[in-house]
Amino acid sequence: MGIFLLHFSPTGSSKRVGKLLAKVWKEPVKRIDLTKQNFEYAHTFNQEDVCYFAVPAFGGRVPALALAHLTEIRGKETPAILIATYGNRAFDDLFLELQDFLSPKGFVVNAAVASVTEHSIVGEFGTGRPNEADIAELNDFAKKIQIKIQAQPSEISALGNKPYRSYQTADYRPLTSDACTDCKLCAEKCPTCAIPYENPRETIFEKCILCMRCIHICPEKARYVDPTAIASLKNHLQEVATGHKANQLFLK
Ligand SMILES: Cc1cc2nc3c(=O)[nH]c(=O)nc-3n(C[C@H](O)[C@H](O)[C@H](O)COP(=O)(O)O)c2cc1C
Ligand code: SF4
Ligand code: SF4
Repeated sequence: MGIFLLHFSPTGSSKRVGKLLAKVWKEPVKRIDLTKQNFEYAHTFNQEDVCYFAVPAFGGRVPALALAHLTEIRGKETPAILIATYGNRAFDDLFLELQDFLSPKGFVVNAAVASVTEHSIVGEFGTGRPNEADIAELNDFAKKIQIKIQAQPSEISALGNKPYRSYQTADYRPLTSDACTDCKLCAEKCPTCAIPYENPRETIFEKCILCMRCIHICPEKARYVDPTAIASLKNHLQEVATGHKANQLFLK
């Protein structure tokens, strides 16, 4: 038996929540980082394995690059747990999209967990989450999932609607200020090689998936999104992403 965590987590929240849920098994968790470039992701999991898939909601959808990197993975009636982190707006049809993708590949989706996290574009939404109460709740979810998989594994019913929410995003492309010291960290860590190693002040916009990783990891805080675009997103989120939203566990 192996416990696997496959995470696509540009700014770290999905990985964090995934680790929290997977550690319930008290076994070493084998992590597969789905943001790596030039990595051989093909793998077949066994029925005795348990796979956690942790991704952020991007426009209420599974990030397309995460799905691309999961293309060659297979299960053999392998229990799967879906984890969606989201910045206090919504996760829309993410679970249905991921379940539709994984079930035909041999995974049995036993559970889905939606976890509210800080919004990776505008941190004023979902600020400080998961907080202590969230962590206690996620630990409780983890135990319930473990009990179900040990006692009576079964596919949950579909969560979401078709057609899936259409993916729409505004222009949140990262720009670079003079604070850049050319350390090249962002170029090394960009999941799509959108930042040229020779000149990390540039961004190849056609390749950028707006994942915000470069902005979060830059030690000089030299990368940023145009403040006008941020202000307009903030305005929109004021209407749809305020107030306390609950984490959710789906087991049936
Ligand atoms: C391009 C993009 C789109 C996003 N879309 C949504 C969304 O539809 N709903 C939401 O609540 N949060 C949204 N967020 C916020 C992220 O889902 C949230 O911050 C997530 O925890 C980031 O995960 P990570 O830290 O693993 O990268 C979006 C963030 C980005 C960068
Ligand atoms: S991480 Fe920041 S300082 Fe380093 S190269 Fe990128 S933008 Fe410049
Ligand atoms: S350049 Fe784009 S794709 Fe690359 S890390 Fe930055 S936001 Fe993500």
